[in-house]
Amino acid sequence: LRDGSGYIQGVYIPQTDEQKSLFESLTQESSLTVTGEVSAHPKKENVFELQVSDISVIQIAEVYPISKKEHGPDFLLSNRHLWIRSKRQWATLRIRDQIIRSVMNFFAEEQFIKIDSPIITPVACEGTTTLFDIDYFDLGKGYLSQSGQLYLEAAIFSHGKVYDFGPVFRAEKSSTRKHLIEFWMMDAEMAFYDHNDSIALQEKFIRRLVRDVLTHCSRELEDLDRNIEALEKVDAPFERMTHKEMVSFLQKHGSEITDDEDLGAQDETIIGEHFDVPVFIERWPAHIKAFYMKQCEDDERYVYAADLMAPEGFGEIIGGSQREDDHDRLLTKMKEEKLPLDDFQWYLDLRKYGSVTHSGFGLGLERLVGWFAGSPHVRETIPFPRLLNRNRP
Ligand code: 4AD
Ligand code: MG
Repeated sequence: LRDGSGYIQGVYIPQTDEQKSLFESLTQESSLTVTGEVSAHPKKENVFELQVSDISVIQIAEVYPISKKEHGPDFLLSNRHLWIRSKRQWATLRIRDQIIRSVMNFFAEEQFIKIDSPIITPVACEGTTTLFDIDYFDLGKGYLSQSGQLYLEAAIFSHGKVYDFGPVFRAEKSSTRKHLIEFWMMDAEMAFYDHNDSIALQEKFIRRLVRDVLTHCSRELEDLDRNIEALEKVDAPFERMTHKEMVSFLQKHGSEITDDEDLGAQDETIIGEHFDVPVFIERWPAHIKAFYMKQCEDDERYVYAADLMAPEGFGEIIGGSQREDDHDRLLTKMKEEKLPLDDFQWYLDLRKYGSVTHSGFGLGLERLVGWFAGSPHVRETIPFPRLLNRNRP
């Protein structure tokens, strides 16, 4: 029996012929009102059963398409509206709910203000190659947001420390187990924080989320057969390596990555095999990172950026950086990247009126749920996934 709050075994011994035929008519997923008494399981500690005395039927379900046998992912995704009733999915989406709650609690406790960034935007935040466009009345093209970051940068001058949390969109032709077309991002942005301050906050943040899930979702983690010890190990200082150091580490372990490249799926797997705690990869080559990142003071070819890699091969969960706060340097960078300056004038303005050192980061919710729940694919970590080849149900 399932009532939304959990699962319980019901024990029913029909007495009359009427009860017997009613009982026999019950099918998987039929909806019922049951009356009974809760009793402790005779053998298992902390497990309870319901000794059912009365059943009244709300609806007898037709033959349910999802059975105990193995189904392929395509079949399950086509039946996602039913699949979310399954136990693993139930547990995974409850962990997602806990994370959302913890994220909001954490930022409230840290005195952040939640600023809801717009979903329809006139410009790209993370590069033009992954933009979804829409027709915006007489004003030409609008785009679906890839991240609320640029708007949060405006908001720090009013509120100091801010965050947003909402759906973002990437028209990415990737169909890996870590990519969704629509996913949820939490962006945070902090005035007067440099790169190191931001890293320290991210570490505190992730540690808090792990602790909350271990505390409040033990039942769900158990249902998922999640290796709890692996999650508990996160309660130790995170690793920090520069991109250059990471590249040579990866090369030693068989990767063909070069100093100028972003990490590939194989690299993420290697990192997952060698580190028990999340790893910050810092000091990235400027030309493979976004235009808004601040160049390192000692060497302009690098930027103060950090990607946080989850252990166990769950990949990049956070991307963040210190932002370029100097007007002229930012303008030069934007010209180099041939960005439409008119549309970005408001963003440049922020460097004209009381510009300060600031940093921020963005967390991919589904990657984090995937890591905590041990999901093989991010499609199981969002209620109705939007994938390269799937936009329904
Ligand atoms: O690294 P990204 O692209 O960073 C930004 O968008 C910054 N503007 C964030 C900021 O500084 N405020 O994305 C952030 C995170 C990634 O680390 C990853 O966890 C997740 O978003 N992500 C995806 N998750 C699922 N599917 C995709 N296609 C994703 N792309 C990024
Ligand atoms: Mg990134």
